[in-house]
Amino acid sequence: MDNTNDLAVLLASQYPLLLVEAQEEQRLLDIIRQAADRLDLPVWTWSATRGLAKDGHHTQYQTIDPHVALEFVGELSGPGVFVFTDVHPLLSDSLVVRRIKEIAQTGRRGQTLVLTGPRNEVPPEIESLAHQWSLKPPDRDELSALVKRTLDTFAARSFPVVVNGAEVEQMVDALLGLTIPEAERLVQREALRDGQISPADIPALRNAKAELLNSDGILELVAADVGTLETIGGLNGLKSWLRLRRRVMISDDALPGLDPPRGVLLTGVPGCGKSLVAKTLAQTWGLPLVLLDPSRLYSKYIGESEQRLIAALSTVEAMAPAVLWIDEIEKGLASSGDGDGGVSRRLLGTFLRWMQERRGDVFMVATANDVSALPPELLRRGRFDEIFFVDLPDPGERAEIISIHLIKRGQDPSGFDLAPLVAASDGFSGAELETVVVGALYRALADEDDLTTANLMMELAATVPLSVSRREDVASLRAWADGRAVFA
Ligand SMILES: Nc1ncnc2c1ncn2[C@@H]1O[C@H](COP(=O)(O)OP(=O)(O)O)[C@@H](O)[C@H]1O
Ligand SMILES: [Mg+2]
Repeated sequence: MDNTNDLAVLLASQYPLLLVEAQEEQRLLDIIRQAADRLDLPVWTWSATRGLAKDGHHTQYQTIDPHVALEFVGELSGPGVFVFTDVHPLLSDSLVVRRIKEIAQTGRRGQTLVLTGPRNEVPPEIESLAHQWSLKPPDRDELSALVKRTLDTFAARSFPVVVNGAEVEQMVDALLGLTIPEAERLVQREALRDGQISPADIPALRNAKAELLNSDGILELVAADVGTLETIGGLNGLKSWLRLRRRVMISDDALPGLDPPRGVLLTGVPGCGKSLVAKTLAQTWGLPLVLLDPSRLYSKYIGESEQRLIAALSTVEAMAPAVLWIDEIEKGLASSGDGDGGVSRRLLGTFLRWMQERRGDVFMVATANDVSALPPELLRRGRFDEIFFVDLPDPGERAEIISIHLIKRGQDPSGFDLAPLVAASDGFSGAELETVVVGALYRALADEDDLTTANLMMELAATVPLSVSRREDVASLRAWADGRAVFA
């Protein structure tokens, strides 16, 4: 397992103090024991009810008191991994923090102190000594084993289990990104809801997962009913770029000489389809779409925001292949201000490191309206595969966009005279063209008549597009993009 490997490396590299945020204590302890076992290190655990005990031995006298337990650890000279569980309340005790710091500073060979709990705030006194680590969510194999085990238990109790092999795989897919206890609970809940395990449970599992992911507000599993890339007018360069990448993204065998695509940054004039591309791309590729809202990451506690970002990103990795969407990235990850105590700087650093190091099939679509707020690190070559500039639609694209929105509302575009509409809509964004179609439909409704080209012309004439009211802004966006981005 990846987790065990990672942890074994950390233990072998003599980190004196590890801070592990984990909801799944039992799973974490199993992994710690496996990793320690490889290095022949004994594992000691402390809990507030049982005190400190070496695995397979009795509790040390009076070590329910964390001060005594830490003092005891401080005096041991032999190697070992010392795991303190649910440390959160302890860390508000300055004496405890001081003892932890002294143990970490002494840094004896082969000794690692592991502090764990569902949510840790790192006291500033030990921040520089502590290495933060978190469990990666279970991978496909672990979840697959869980699902099979659960189905076997149900079947053994003569509970109807009517899913075939392919459906079991779909159940596993639906659970990717969850922890083991969460996954287990969901399967049981769905089974008990209708008294059987059947293919009908698969969409229910997907929905339940979407709710769970949304619960802390950082990730959102976006429903895949927004249409495909074909419902976007224009942007042909971008669309064919994405079509080519799809082949590499979906195919199982590596195409020689081609690295898997990592992602794109879409900038440009507001209302021209950046978010629309992100939304429709996942559906076009048949992949789950996960929206990450970086503004939800902010926490006043040092280190907590980064931990949350890391946890969210590894959840997305566990759902791979997937499309990760970060809308208006400049708002969350790139604020230049130092007013937040450097949190956004550190979040950006964490994020860039992930972009650099990650493997696996997560394709990222980031959008940005205010490019001037983007830090240069994010734009450096190699971060995104490409930076696209989504400009105002040209005449041909406007004809397409008008047609698309007419069709969307049950109108046949061939019944309209598009040429004057296109001519009169110079400077209109896709969003504004859509508004024009809707507005014209209301005009027709008021007249109790069918929609006509004249209705559309009137609506166009009554609208002042953003590109006119904010001409300088659009010009400066374009100037920025020149040489930095590819026109989509
Ligand atoms: N190129 C386009 N083709 C079709 N519809 C478009 C296009 N651009 C914008 N729209 C319409 O305008 C809406 C808003 O566009 P959006 O993608 O949110 O713009 P932004 O670039 O600001 O993210 C879309 O949901 C869609 O209905
Ligand atoms: Mg947008």
